[in-house]
Amino acid sequence: MPRTQIIGTGSYVPEKVVTNADLEKIVETSDQWISERTGIKERRMAAPGELTSDMAVKAAVQALEMARTRPEDLDAIIVGTVTPDMPMPSCAAFVQHKLGAKKAFAFDVSAACAGSLYGMSIADQYVRNGNAKRVLVIGVELLTSILNWEDRNTCVLFGDAAGAMVLGPSSDGERGILSTHLHTDGSQWPILLIQAGGPHTPITPEVLAKKLNKVSMNGREVFKFAVRALTDAVKEALDANQLAPAQVDHVIAHQANVRIIDAVLERLDLSRDKVWLNIHRYGNTSSASLPMTLDEANRAGRLKEGDVIAMMAIGAGMAWGSALVRW
Ligand code: UT7
Repeated sequence: MPRTQIIGTGSYVPEKVVTNADLEKIVETSDQWISERTGIKERRMAAPGELTSDMAVKAAVQALEMARTRPEDLDAIIVGTVTPDMPMPSCAAFVQHKLGAKKAFAFDVSAACAGSLYGMSIADQYVRNGNAKRVLVIGVELLTSILNWEDRNTCVLFGDAAGAMVLGPSSDGERGILSTHLHTDGSQWPILLIQAGGPHTPITPEVLAKKLNKVSMNGREVFKFAVRALTDAVKEALDANQLAPAQVDHVIAHQANVRIIDAVLERLDLSRDKVWLNIHRYGNTSSASLPMTLDEANRAGRLKEGDVIAMMAIGAGMAWGSALVRW
């Protein structure tokens, strides 16, 4: 069975920059606290009227150009997002329409910050079993629309962005996705959630007043869980491929907190210079983070043919996983 190769990457961030100093004017926080506790200096915010699918399409166009793939040649479009344009239909359906990817079936994956990694794993199955030749995987979030701007525990952390990749069969036996490992622990649902908006907690005036339709998080618990889960997931990937940490050339990680990434690297004995960091510029962009980071490293010429890339992501669910790719 041929492996699945990432043949194009793309990304997009909105123009508007929101700095830590800007947030100091909204909630009781400081540039020093945000920088030291998270590594974030600034994040982007979508323009009024700019939709999640608009951002997704911009990242997708870049990835398609690099992959020399026309939208009409796509077999499938998978979008990882928790901020679709509307609850129904999927964001992927809008992306399919806006791109004119008439042949592609399209659907969203709901795995929060792990959404694009989950999407990549699903796409890998379609490509390897021969059912698809070109799959567009997108991670995109308009998180500023679901933040409680009175909650300093969350509103300083997140930003808007899109990342995309085009997957197809590998041109040789060596390059491509070596493995993906996905995990979920649904018992952890209370530590990171948007509680209201479904049958569990219907929207009422009281619910809106309590901002239960916005993100809330027990940061400390998520932090501890994330370090443990990501470390185990990358170890699992290395063991499955009989690779040692020293054989990993790059780490492409979901950027939630620079301290989480550092803690995982330390536990895995991976050096800091292997990881591409952009959290200081964009904050936590959830499912966009992984493909956007991959695209930046790729366009910077950092990834060489044959390099081994370890990927990791974790988000609400908790849902997490790892992937190993030979570039
Ligand atoms: O995308 C995947 C999911 N998300 C994550 O992976 C995020 C995981 N969690 C984290 O990154 C960290 O837990 C945070 C950055 C959210 C918080 O950092 P922390 O070091 O865990 O801080 P903490 O929650 O333990 O809070 C420490 C103190 C508290 O004050 P007290 O109770 O010690 O007096 C907070 O109230 O910092 C306070 N605090 C703030 N202070 C200034 C919390 N947020 C802020 C803030 N500015 N924005």
